[in-house]
Amino acid sequence: MSGDRGSKDILAEENKEDREKLVGMLKKAYWMEIETVMSYVANSVNPDGVRASEIKESLQTDIQEELGHAQQFAARIKELYGVVPGSKEFTAEQDYLQPPEEQTDIPAVIRGVIQAEAGAIGFYNEIIEFAGEHDPVTEDMMIAILRDEQGHMRLFEGFLREYEAEGLA
Ligand SMILES: [Fe+2]
Ligand SMILES: [Fe+2]
Repeated sequence: MSGDRGSKDILAEENKEDREKLVGMLKKAYWMEIETVMSYVANSVNPDGVRASEIKESLQTDIQEELGHAQQFAARIKELYGVVPGSKEFTAEQDYLQPPEEQTDIPAVIRGVIQAEAGAIGFYNEIIEFAGEHDPVTEDMMIAILRDEQGHMRLFEGFLREYEAEGLA
């Protein structure tokens, strides 16, 4: 098999274009995770009130998972001959996870988290679709991470249902 790298081999020279597209998607996913870490750190500290602690604790746990996702994306960018971007390339996009006016406004935080997770789920499904055709290793990694994001979203959807049921959201 010397030198004959299959057409499905994402590291093969002939697949450079697909590989670079995938690296671009992974860079975007990397920044989404980094921004989510920033937003969750703030929102795991800012909220006030007796109802805030469950949300804060849950976000504290998620911070570590999101950071782990960012590290996995960074590693995969490198494996695909890419370069993990420096901080000056970062542009913030999470308008919906800025601190609310009132730090007792827990539903605002919950809705922001749901939006962040839904955004990740949507984009990671796009990566899975592309990687499914070109790079099963990235596809495999993305599927595992997608499951984490689905778990995060479902948990916060449950929090929102509770607030809605009690007429608080
Ligand atoms: Fe994540
Ligand atoms: Fe998440």
